[in-house]
Amino acid sequence: METTLILLKPDALHRGLAGRILARFEDKGLQMVGLRLLRMSPELAAKHYAEHVGKPFYEGLVSFMTGSPIVALALRGPQAITVARQMMGKTFGIEADPGTLRGDFGCSKSYNLLHGSDSSESAERELSIFFPEGLEDWSPIQAPWFWDAE
Ligand code: RTP
Ligand code: MG
Repeated sequence: METTLILLKPDALHRGLAGRILARFEDKGLQMVGLRLLRMSPELAAKHYAEHVGKPFYEGLVSFMTGSPIVALALRGPQAITVARQMMGKTFGIEADPGTLRGDFGCSKSYNLLHGSDSSESAERELSIFFPEGLEDWSPIQAPWFWDAE
C-alpha cells in the first residue's frame, strides 16, 4: 500500500473542479487519508518545490501556487503514487492524453490543476510537509472489493 500527496492547485479551485477531481480519485478506489484547504506561504512553496529552485519557471510557479488557496490531499491505495500520476497525465493539458485529469480538464501551458508525488521518497517528504500531524488511518468498508486481498 502506498500513500501519495496530491495538491489541487489554485486553478482547480477557481474553476470549481476540486470536487470533480476528488471524485475521479474516489471512483478509482484511492482512499482519502488526509484533506486540508490552505494557502501556501512562500516558505512552504520553497520547501515543497526545493528541486525546482533556480529553474526559469520557478518564480512564476511560486507566485501561482501562493496566490490563492489550494487543497492538499493524501491518497492511499495499491501503487497509489503511480496510479495517481497516470490519472493526472503529462505536465500540461495540451500534451496530456484524453482520459487523464490534465488531458480532460485543461489546455493551458502554465496552469495544470494538480500536483502528485513522483516517487516514494517524494511522497514521504511532501506528506510530512503538508500533514506534519500525520494521516487518518481507517479501513474503507468496501476495501476488499476494490483492492486485492492482502
Ligand atoms: P507536479 O510536480 O506539479 O506534479 O508536476 P510535474 O511533476 O508534472 O512537473 P514538474 O516538472 O515537477 O514541475 C512542477 C510544476 O512546475 C510547473 N512547470 N512549469 N513553464 C514550464 O516549463 C514549467 N515546467 C514545470 C508546473 O506547474 C509543474 O506542475
Ligand atoms: Mg513534479
